[in-house]
Amino acid sequence: MVDLRGRDFLKLLDFTPKEINHLLTVSSTLKKQKRNHESHRYLKGKQVALIFEKDSTRTRCSFEAGAVDLGMQATYIGPTGSQLGKKETIADTARVLCRIYDGIEYRGFDQTIVEDLAKYSSVPVWNGLTNEFHPTQMLADVMTIKEEFGKLKGITLCFCGDARNNVGNSLMVVCSKLGMNFVCAAPKELFPNEELVSICKNICNETGGTIRLEEDIMKATKDVDVLYTDVWVSMGEPMELWENRIKLLQPYQVNKKVMDNANKNAIFLHCLPSFHNIDTKIGKEIYDKFGITEMEVTDEVFESSKSRVFEEAENRLHTIKAVMLETLKE
Ligand code: CP
Ligand code: NVA
Repeated sequence: MVDLRGRDFLKLLDFTPKEINHLLTVSSTLKKQKRNHESHRYLKGKQVALIFEKDSTRTRCSFEAGAVDLGMQATYIGPTGSQLGKKETIADTARVLCRIYDGIEYRGFDQTIVEDLAKYSSVPVWNGLTNEFHPTQMLADVMTIKEEFGKLKGITLCFCGDARNNVGNSLMVVCSKLGMNFVCAAPKELFPNEELVSICKNICNETGGTIRLEEDIMKATKDVDVLYTDVWVSMGEPMELWENRIKLLQPYQVNKKVMDNANKNAIFLHCLPSFHNIDTKIGKEIYDKFGITEMEVTDEVFESSKSRVFEEAENRLHTIKAVMLETLKE
């Protein structure tokens, strides 16, 4: 029996494979209920606080809409408008919010902040993205992969790009936990940090997963089942980094040649938002400055029949609801 009541959800390293699989099972049930318009207000009367020090579409909407689906109310606390960070510490904020709310979500900067929030809060704290990890994203990703292939063990996923960012780190962790094969296609400078690689390799010894770090994009992507990429510069990083990242990561763009190198049935995933054209403010700025029209993924792959990015985005809702439900239920 898996019992996650009262638990924080800060990073997947804290969870067993059985617990992660349980959350996926609950997510699938909630997805069916939502699709069938069956009421699932299991947390009626509870309230959650959602702290966002960085921007968000999917995570914020999934927590807000998910809370309402489960019968709860949500309060959004944005980067401005509260005392947090200016006149009040994380420790004090945590001790206030847990007197008012049943659960607290945090999106922001260092992982130590969300860990501190959890330390001082008597109610569950959920990580909605930090510089180091993005665990709720992972549940949606593996849910999408499982829906596609019917299994996770033995599936090979290749992450192309800045493999030290929150998404790269978290993918390596979730693949290790679930007995999947993780390949990172990146220049050496952007390989995940050695300590995390070593922790994940130890997990793989238990689960049968594997980890491979590869500089050669064609070797890395040969016959993989899932191609995954993310933005080259993450939220919170300085704009000045773009020039260097473009130089380092252009060879790792997911384009048709790379996609054709993967398995015949391979799918493309991206946590989103994505720079696959110049129809965004930043996309246009990068085009004006560096003359490139697509970045981490080409528009052709993004819009292709192999792309599952919108299924993946929808699964953010169901998986975030599973995390809230399993940690808050009585
Ligand atoms: N993937 C993801 O976390 O998206 P948002 O930044 O829109 O929440
Ligand atoms: N690595 C990206 C993920 C966004 C969901 C960022 O942190 O900006």
